[in-house]
Amino acid sequence: MSGFPSFNYRNGRLCGESVELDRIAREFGTPCYIYSRAALTAAYREFDAAFGARDHLVCYAVKANSNLAILNLFARLGSGFDIVSGGELQRVLKAGGDPKKVVFSGVGKRPEEMRAALDAGILCFNVESGAELRVLNQVAGEMNKIAPVSLRVNPDVDARTHPYISTGLKENKFGIPFDEAESLYASSHEFSNVRVAGLDCHIGSQLTELDPFIESCEKMLGLLDRLEAQGLQIDHLDLGGGLGIRYSGENPPLVREYVDVLCAGIGQRRQRILIEPGRALVGNAGILLTRVEYLKHTPHRDFAIVDAAMNDLMRPALYDAYHEILPVNAKDDISAKTYQVVGPVCETGDFLGHDRNLALRQGDLLAIMSAGAYGMSMSSNYNTRPRAAEVMVDGDHVHLVRERESIEQLTAGEKILP
Ligand code: LLP
Repeated sequence: MSGFPSFNYRNGRLCGESVELDRIAREFGTPCYIYSRAALTAAYREFDAAFGARDHLVCYAVKANSNLAILNLFARLGSGFDIVSGGELQRVLKAGGDPKKVVFSGVGKRPEEMRAALDAGILCFNVESGAELRVLNQVAGEMNKIAPVSLRVNPDVDARTHPYISTGLKENKFGIPFDEAESLYASSHEFSNVRVAGLDCHIGSQLTELDPFIESCEKMLGLLDRLEAQGLQIDHLDLGGGLGIRYSGENPPLVREYVDVLCAGIGQRRQRILIEPGRALVGNAGILLTRVEYLKHTPHRDFAIVDAAMNDLMRPALYDAYHEILPVNAKDDISAKTYQVVGPVCETGDFLGHDRNLALRQGDLLAIMSAGAYGMSMSSNYNTRPRAAEVMVDGDHVHLVRERESIEQLTAGEKILP
């Protein structure tokens, strides 16, 4: 067993569902992202089912992985979407997502992005400042529309996660300070082209404990009760995303435990619950397949130089994140060494894993696990490296869901001076 659902060994060969990964490498080349339809479907259903009969909407956080095939799969399952840009809105619409199930988060929405979202008729804007509320009111007024809004409130809760992905502390740029939220809500009637629809928060990502969720949920519910007592009608409570996954040793709460805590908090209140999970839906449903180009032995260290790099998967370089690295074909005829698994990019920060015990030969395939979230969506073309191909396995089928980029595509928009 690999410990990752949908990616398991069969006769010593690592498979995605029923497809051997070396077949994918032969057909589509490397580096290549591989997603499992079964794992994605199971993850969505687990969230959806955990709410039982309680009115809810799961809004998949598109930033985690915005491939159209994944968005379309979730749309078909009934998912809503959390977007943070006009580009993500276009992707959701292109993938067949329902705009009435879209919430729009982010601290820096531009007027043209607001216009596109108003045109599409989204469910709600998660507004992050008084200044943004004023601009939205003006844009909606010019279009003769009423914009549905939640204020994204910063509950000042320590999510106890990596500082770069912690968002709910008062020193973070996100949300409206908790103590200012009530007065901004109270002034909302001055904005004739917005309508209060909900209340929103998001405290961070890769949370592995329930306590911060409980703490922020309690604070938000206290605020909700005060707003209602003032006569405001709040139709939904959006509690953001953030549930962590297991990369190696973590023991994050189960989806059911997490949802139970939110539902228990909201109790008999009539509001619909929205959540915005990203990583927990896609993280362990995807891997990055890479090939060992060279083994390099120095007096100090042994390097496995692979064909994937920090431009393909930035998380190790950016957050010192740990991703399990598994051999695609298990070997027992050579002895293992402690390898630094690194890419070809010209930076010492270009590593995928440090000190990994692997038995390797040049040309071997490796699977970088848990790469479905914030992998491809954060990739770049650094070192003029075309972006990887993406495929989806489905039983014993493999579908190419994004072609490998070509160098021509990379330079297409560039011009030489006359
Ligand atoms: N809602 C909002 C408003 C967010 O900002 C985020 C993530 C989510 C939902 C989804 O959070 P999730 O369920 O995926 O934790 N690049 C980083 C993660 C950045 C998260 C940004 N916001 C990483 O690779 O770990």
